[in-house]
Amino acid sequence: MIDFQKFVKYAKPGPRYTSYPTAPEFSEEFSHEEYTNILKNQDSSRPLSLYFHLPFCRSACYFCGCNVVFTSKDDKKVRYIEYLKKEVEILSRHLDINRTVMQLHFGGGTPTFFSASQLEQIITLIRSYFPNFAHDAEISCEIDPRFLTQEQLDVLVKGGFNRISYGVQDFNEEIQKVIHRIQPYEVTKNAVDIARAAGIKSINMDLIYGFPTQSLESFKKTLDIALTLSPDRFAVFNYAHVPWMKKTMRKFDETTLPSPEEKLNILKYTISFFQSHGYKMIGMDHFAKPEDELFLAIEKGELHRNFQGYTTKGGADLVGVGLTSIGEGVGHYAQNHKEMKDYESSIDAGRLPLYKGIALSEDDKLRKAVIMELMSNFKLDIKRVQQEFSINFFEYFADAIDELREFEKQDLLSIEDDSIKVGTTGELLIRNIAMPFDAYLKQNKQRRFSKTI
Ligand SMILES: C[S@@+](CC[C@H](N)C(=O)[O-])C[C@H]1O[C@@H](n2cnc3c(N)ncnc32)[C@H](O)[C@@H]1O
Ligand code: SF4
Repeated sequence: MIDFQKFVKYAKPGPRYTSYPTAPEFSEEFSHEEYTNILKNQDSSRPLSLYFHLPFCRSACYFCGCNVVFTSKDDKKVRYIEYLKKEVEILSRHLDINRTVMQLHFGGGTPTFFSASQLEQIITLIRSYFPNFAHDAEISCEIDPRFLTQEQLDVLVKGGFNRISYGVQDFNEEIQKVIHRIQPYEVTKNAVDIARAAGIKSINMDLIYGFPTQSLESFKKTLDIALTLSPDRFAVFNYAHVPWMKKTMRKFDETTLPSPEEKLNILKYTISFFQSHGYKMIGMDHFAKPEDELFLAIEKGELHRNFQGYTTKGGADLVGVGLTSIGEGVGHYAQNHKEMKDYESSIDAGRLPLYKGIALSEDDKLRKAVIMELMSNFKLDIKRVQQEFSINFFEYFADAIDELREFEKQDLLSIEDDSIKVGTTGELLIRNIAMPFDAYLKQNKQRRFSKTI
């Protein structure tokens, strides 16, 4: 049973921990030389996970927190592909491209805002530089159903894509007007139908709760409709309202944002709705069918977290290609330029378009391991952490443990000699439970995060 009174009391704004240290800690001091040395010296037996950021969208959804370039011009896309080609060529000088590729992800923006033949060029580029894709590689694409043709889908399937994630957000027509994203049900249904017919085995659907004017009643209907399409996974995101970072969010009338109580009611209903329809909650915001890999991974305690959210494929080095993309290895994070002109001029100078990054200290690595394990599997194997990092956990983290005692008193988690176990209500507060382990939060820097509820 979930106790929502505790939930309200313990929630405060915090990072979503798709990385640790979080992106605001990345610095421009992380140099090109440092980055290329890291890439060169990576263990070649570790597989690669490739992320390609395809940033263009036609028009702005007002809620959007992604790194997007709005355009209606095709020449921008043509030009971008030329730069992707150059970037991969430069990358191939610094990275062992014969390593096994375990994962490839197209994110955006809207990857399918590129035409079928443009997508084909990008796939051909990747396949020609990286010859060793694992036979069971996870190859996925984020798709806005409003921009998907049979031709594009055929290109993706031919290119080996086996997972698709559709952005839906909310089926309510009035809310679609408010968020500036008109997407009739038929459009989404057609996208799901053609993907199934093309043999895509795993379909995810993104929904968001917390939009202006949204209510429990409206969201119930959205869930009913979404369920009829029976995707393998749902991501139900808490709307991250960060108008100080994203201008379009300022178009919302903040007085129409649902109250924390309403949002809690929506979340509570969503969880029981999916559970009663055979989905299992994975991490903070995903739901999967029992036969889905994510579901099986959580049973085995093998779920991992990275920039794309939750994944079953740990132990790979992530390399980001394209504007703003982020890469991650055992001891670093690296982010590409966010401004197109900087991105292009780096590449023109024959350099990787590195904007900033961070080389992890031993303390960072330890805290990252703790935070990611909590965020993914809702428990922590203290013994394993002690062995791996040669520390006395309770001494090293005395202050964090003190903070967690408060959560323990409320039955949100239990702290034992060799493990921390988070309870059902605590799972929803996992960001707050991870925060005591974040050394950077204690430095009192001026950082603003979205609300955890
Ligand atoms: C790059 S988009 C997905 C692909 C495509 N652009 C689309 O919108 O259909 C990634 C997802 O991030 C989620 N998202 C975007 N902005 C968000 C925000 N402010 N808070 C929570 N989730 C957000 C949406 O659910 C969206 O589907
Ligand atoms: S939600 Fe998707 S389609 Fe809408 S602006 Fe963001 S990236 Fe583009």
